[in-house]
Amino acid sequence: MYATGRYFDSVVQLVNETALPAPDAVICDVGTEVRAFPSGRPFDEWHDRMPSDWDTGRIRDLLSELPRLRPQPSEWQSPLKASFFLENASSEEMDSVFETLWNHSIYPEVIYSSDRDLDVLPPGVNKGSAAAFLASRWGFPRKDVVVSGDSGNDRPLFVKGFRGVVVANAKPELKELGGPLIYHARRPMAAGVLEGLKYWTAPPRLLPQSALRREKQLTAASSKAGNS
Ligand code: GLC
Repeated sequence: MYATGRYFDSVVQLVNETALPAPDAVICDVGTEVRAFPSGRPFDEWHDRMPSDWDTGRIRDLLSELPRLRPQPSEWQSPLKASFFLENASSEEMDSVFETLWNHSIYPEVIYSSDRDLDVLPPGVNKGSAAAFLASRWGFPRKDVVVSGDSGNDRPLFVKGFRGVVVANAKPELKELGGPLIYHARRPMAAGVLEGLKYWTAPPRLLPQSALRREKQLTAASSKAGNS
């Protein structure tokens, strides 16, 4: 499964024109769409969860008042995704994005990636929630799912209980992630994904015999101490 910020047809084109393997499904437009591949059939249960009154035109109008925010090209916009360029956003600028929308009772999911791309999506919609939807639809426990990514719009994938692989060329917003479910690959791009898959699927190593003996001795000693 690919999870991408791109629109569906551009994924089809990439798969057709490059060595990328064909996926079973694509999460596209930063999670607002989930489609079967290559047919493009939408997963209705996901689409039914999208708010019917989400008005990206209004969001674009409201945010066009803010200095420095520039709308992305029209083919990158969709009825559920309003996307902008905002280079090196300051935290004050991010605050103004939220304040402007909150003042009009719009409470969106805002995703900022690569110090440049700002996506405004319906609440709770992102690549992570879409991947969780697909995992449950296909009957995979989350611990059996490996996700990988390199920039901000991938971040929600890493907080859903999946096993994560951050590739070496990832942006700082992913490099800073940590915890038992995050593997930081030494290699970049696809090589990093493969490295991470090997890491997460390697058979668990048993403790060496010497360590097992030592644990037994410690247990025996502590129960003896407890008895005395
Ligand atoms: C892709 C999309 C763009 C989005 C970016 C980050 O490049 O085309 O609209 O802003 O991903 O999510």
